[in-house]
Amino acid sequence: MCGIVGYIGSRQAQSILTGGLRRLEYRGYDSAGIVTLSENGDATLLRAKGKVAELSSLTSKNSKVDGLGIGHTRWATHGAPSELNAHPHQAGDVYIVHNGIIENYKELKEEVSGHEFKSETDTEVLAALINSLYDSDTKLEDAVTQALQLTVGTYGVAVVSTRETGKIVVARQGSPLIIGVGSDEVLVASDASALIGHTTEAIYLNDGELAVCTANNVELRDMASQPISAKVEKIEVDMQAIQKQGYDHFLLKEIMEQPSTLRSTLNGRVIPEQHRAQLGGLNMTTDELRTVEHVVIIGCGTAYYAGLLAAYNLERLVEDLTIEVQVASEFRYRSFHLPKNSVALVVSQSGETADTLACLREIKRRGVKTLGVVNAVGSTIAREVDGGVYVHAGPEISVASTKAFTSQVAAMTIFGLQLAQAKGIGLKELDAYIEELAVLPDEIERILATKNDELKEVAETYATYEHALFLGRDTLFPVALEGALKLKEISYIQAEGYATGELKHGPIALIDDRFFEVMLIQDNWLFDKSLSGLAEVNARGGHVLAITDTQKEVDAETVVRIDTTLDLLAPLVMNVIQQLLAYHIAVIKGNDVDQPRNLAKSVTVE
Ligand code: G6P
Repeated sequence: MCGIVGYIGSRQAQSILTGGLRRLEYRGYDSAGIVTLSENGDATLLRAKGKVAELSSLTSKNSKVDGLGIGHTRWATHGAPSELNAHPHQAGDVYIVHNGIIENYKELKEEVSGHEFKSETDTEVLAALINSLYDSDTKLEDAVTQALQLTVGTYGVAVVSTRETGKIVVARQGSPLIIGVGSDEVLVASDASALIGHTTEAIYLNDGELAVCTANNVELRDMASQPISAKVEKIEVDMQAIQKQGYDHFLLKEIMEQPSTLRSTLNGRVIPEQHRAQLGGLNMTTDELRTVEHVVIIGCGTAYYAGLLAAYNLERLVEDLTIEVQVASEFRYRSFHLPKNSVALVVSQSGETADTLACLREIKRRGVKTLGVVNAVGSTIAREVDGGVYVHAGPEISVASTKAFTSQVAAMTIFGLQLAQAKGIGLKELDAYIEELAVLPDEIERILATKNDELKEVAETYATYEHALFLGRDTLFPVALEGALKLKEISYIQAEGYATGELKHGPIALIDDRFFEVMLIQDNWLFDKSLSGLAEVNARGGHVLAITDTQKEVDAETVVRIDTTLDLLAPLVMNVIQQLLAYHIAVIKGNDVDQPRNLAKSVTVE
């Protein structure tokens, strides 16, 4: 979704801003813009619909040496993607970039006079409001503070003025903002990846905070203009992790790096020699863990499906546990009741998803313990939970989530192990999970090495279909949902995931030559039942692509066999096959694999 960058220092702001915006491209956007200011207040505003590359061609024709500027990638909420709706927005001397949504923009628009609106955005209303409060004796930070006090909604903003060319004012309410502190320069960004390569020191702004940034100083204050002391933290992401490293797409790189990212998730947490698992950051004593009777798992998109899959593992590990898995955008508005002794697992790759964050806050407000299952270090969810586990999958750049899913499921399973240990549950089930987790990275590594070419070929057959049905039973049901999501996200083939047992309750009516069916079949106690589902699809002339770990006969149009020693965690390996399938189909169709149309990586608005 929208991204913000800002720069003040002695280097050329234009190139730092466009470089930063390029790093934020992965978040998904439809237009981009920057404004830079010279010391005497001449503004150069450049905006373009489409990619940052379009903007860069404008900056090369209008190159400026200015050392101050702000930039933005926009994901349309109010008003279509267009140059006029792109940020920065201007009103008088004020230029602003904004992430989030100003909910009362219509009322505010009626109150500001004397500004001729050029865009359809809520952000331009905020610019006009700030400008109307910015008279000749007022400092920019005071006008911004007054305007934000009148604002209802969410924002991360960066504001500059042609009258005060030595500063950038930034503020946050619900949309992340990070201030990178360099030597004699300061960068601001909505995402740490835009700061990498410039500085490793950063101040993470909290909600309700505003900062006045000059090249040598950052001054923090609250919305009552009271000073706050700033905490400078280290940014831990390195440059390598955010580059394609020879792969055609980030998505393929992220699929391929799952063995190593998963090893990072497991490192020091799963100890097979001692038959145990441990998580450092839960901030819960063994006694507290022992009393947990109910777990609610919250997430959106792939994180939600990771929760659905992990729930099967948790309930197998801990008998007296009840588990519910909830989509955050629904749960936040329900009259939900969490029993005593509940714990909430808040699952999010980015740690910034607005609905997930809202659930976290509501659950916390009710006094229930919250634990994060988060990938992005230092993100808002990670900072607000009571404890939790970083999944350590490294930066995930491609919009469609792959490696984060695998690591989220593994991390939640380790949580289940920890819970089981605290409750004194027998070693047998525990050991089976511990042993499988320990070898999972090697198993995925082997499958990736041997199956990629096969999936490339299989994709040729199925790329021409208009619709797909993904079917699985038990732990393969959430995997089917995730497989369908991956395919629709990047190939734009309409895809539905169903529990195989539900086939007769509706989806079987869909089967015709426009459909192919991905059937996930595990050679376990449900094998025969899965085969019955397969027979039913075949009998209706289905085009089945079976993904299975059996070496027995499977009567399907195409069979992709995985050879694995895994049982409990085999679904995670089957999911890797689905990731490759979706990837190769999207490539064949010529789609923008890493930045699929209309999607955003980090959904920071409702
Ligand atoms: C967006 C992304 C998905 C992701 C979901 C939840 O829809 O495109 O890939 O699964 O948000 O994001 P989160 O960062 O909370 O895991």
